[in-house]
Amino acid sequence: MKIGDVEDRLLEELKEAALKARELSYSPYSHFRVGCSILTNNDVIFTGANVENASYSNCICAERVAMVQVLMSGYRTGWKCMVICGDSEDKCVSPCGVCRQFINEFVTKDFPIIMLNSTGACCVTKTIGELLPMAFGPSHLA
Ligand code: THU
Repeated sequence: MKIGDVEDRLLEELKEAALKARELSYSPYSHFRVGCSILTNNDVIFTGANVENASYSNCICAERVAMVQVLMSGYRTGWKCMVICGDSEDKCVSPCGVCRQFINEFVTKDFPIIMLNSTGACCVTKTIGELLPMAFGPSHLA
């Protein structure tokens, strides 16, 4: 896992960024706020929060909001890691299936995803390879 290369101070900053981004969540339907932060190859932090819609299936997860921000700022490769935090205190939030597939498009199997609970005290780290084994990806179409 590349997470070992990320300084503790930067990792703390990344966790704080995800917890803060969660405050921008627009989630009047589920009342479940999610925040996400991503660290680029040159240590820039991008964030996202979930954005819901009266037409429920239009909801966008925090992870995809953050990833689109990263992509639109010109970073397509070399992402170092992602942090996600949810609104539940008793368990860490885990990325949904659609987000796992979306993440897989842009990273290698060892990309670390750090999952936090609402306070940031509980922290579980898994790679995208662990969260989405045998993923269908760009190489299948090559
Ligand atoms: N949600 C995320 O933003 N990320 C996840 O990984 C899981 C779910 C959002 C979608 C919806 O707005 C709310 O959480 C409840 O499902």
